[in-house]
Amino acid sequence: MTLRTPVTSRSKLPDVGTTIFTVIGQLSAQHNAINLSQGAPNFPCDPQLVAAVTRAMEADHNQYAPMTGLRPLKVKIAQKIAELYGADYDVDNEVLVTASASQGLYSAIGGLVHPGDEVIYFEPSFDSYAPIVRLQGATPVAIKLTVPDFAVNWDEVRAAITPRTRMIIINTPHNPSGQVFSASDLAQLAQITRHTDIVILSDEVYEHVVFDGQPHHGMATHPQLAERSVIVSSFGKTYHVTGWRVGYCVAPAALMDEIVKVHQFLMFSADTPMQYAFAEHMNDAQTWLSLAAFYQRKRDVMQTLLADSPFRLLPSAGSFFLLADYSHFSDECDSELVKRLITDYGVATIPLSAFYTDGTDNKLIRLSFAKDEATLRAGAQALCRVKPR
Ligand SMILES: Cc1ncc(COP(=O)(O)O)c(C=O)c1O
Repeated sequence: MTLRTPVTSRSKLPDVGTTIFTVIGQLSAQHNAINLSQGAPNFPCDPQLVAAVTRAMEADHNQYAPMTGLRPLKVKIAQKIAELYGADYDVDNEVLVTASASQGLYSAIGGLVHPGDEVIYFEPSFDSYAPIVRLQGATPVAIKLTVPDFAVNWDEVRAAITPRTRMIIINTPHNPSGQVFSASDLAQLAQITRHTDIVILSDEVYEHVVFDGQPHHGMATHPQLAERSVIVSSFGKTYHVTGWRVGYCVAPAALMDEIVKVHQFLMFSADTPMQYAFAEHMNDAQTWLSLAAFYQRKRDVMQTLLADSPFRLLPSAGSFFLLADYSHFSDECDSELVKRLITDYGVATIPLSAFYTDGTDNKLIRLSFAKDEATLRAGAQALCRVKPR
């Protein structure tokens, strides 16, 4: 529609346009490429989960759920966290069911960050953190993880803290690098934040996908950090249902009070039938306890299949992702290589530069192994055919 008197809109995010993810998605669809780009699984979820949602719908659980979530589900979430990490969250005041982890992140930043505040986060990073911070009138402060091990340089964090620092955003296991926090990272973070007002927002959507028998070093494992942390997780990632948009966050009551105020006006509540289904499904702890082995097999298959490819894989300690280095065989920039992989070899990946605000090009591409075995095989075969340039 053409307006006769055009209304001007002053963009709050003028530099946010079509992301590389959309560009890759479109190009990949045009070329019918094998999709190793997205973090979404391409295999089905447990049919019992679908049956549980169907039962909930048929039992007419189709109206608004309680604002902070269905109590039986919140009880299960609190129990799981207590059993796995030894932290106690009050079911009524410290657990919130959200419509996806993304909404949990938005509600936490929206509720706790004020105009003029600074929020430290690490790049490469999941794409939503910095724009959400900017929408609050606050300043995102990016610190680059070291390359190629994608670790935090804690001295840089110390140097970046100012009286305006309100929040530090952590993501472990890390998308896109597949790296995880160690006990020593937690100790450093605790030392840096002690005697400050800094809140930690910990994105732990891949909490159950930590490999090689290692524990997940999340904020709930460290009592001193748990006291100042909002922890966000995703049912979508844990149960192969990224399209259902259900997640949760936990936080001490004083922080949660403010997060709930935003959640209340953003969503009011998350999907009701899905909450009934998850409450039932969470009776079986194997559903999350078996997840690391499930994805570790996929990581290992991918590593074996790519052993004869020209790429050098970086180690992945968790998440759905592997990084592949091509610096030794081509000096084209990562987004050009990714486009060429789609057009010439029929396989879609993501350039790591897409996860940096300044487009840093480390000659690395991200592969998702959250795919069925046929897709992993077809994708790896295509990558093995790549000719060095
Ligand atoms: C690190 C990270 N955080 C948050 C999300 C979003 O999770 P959800 O789909 O539950 O919104 C993703 C999804 O890819 C992710 O990789």
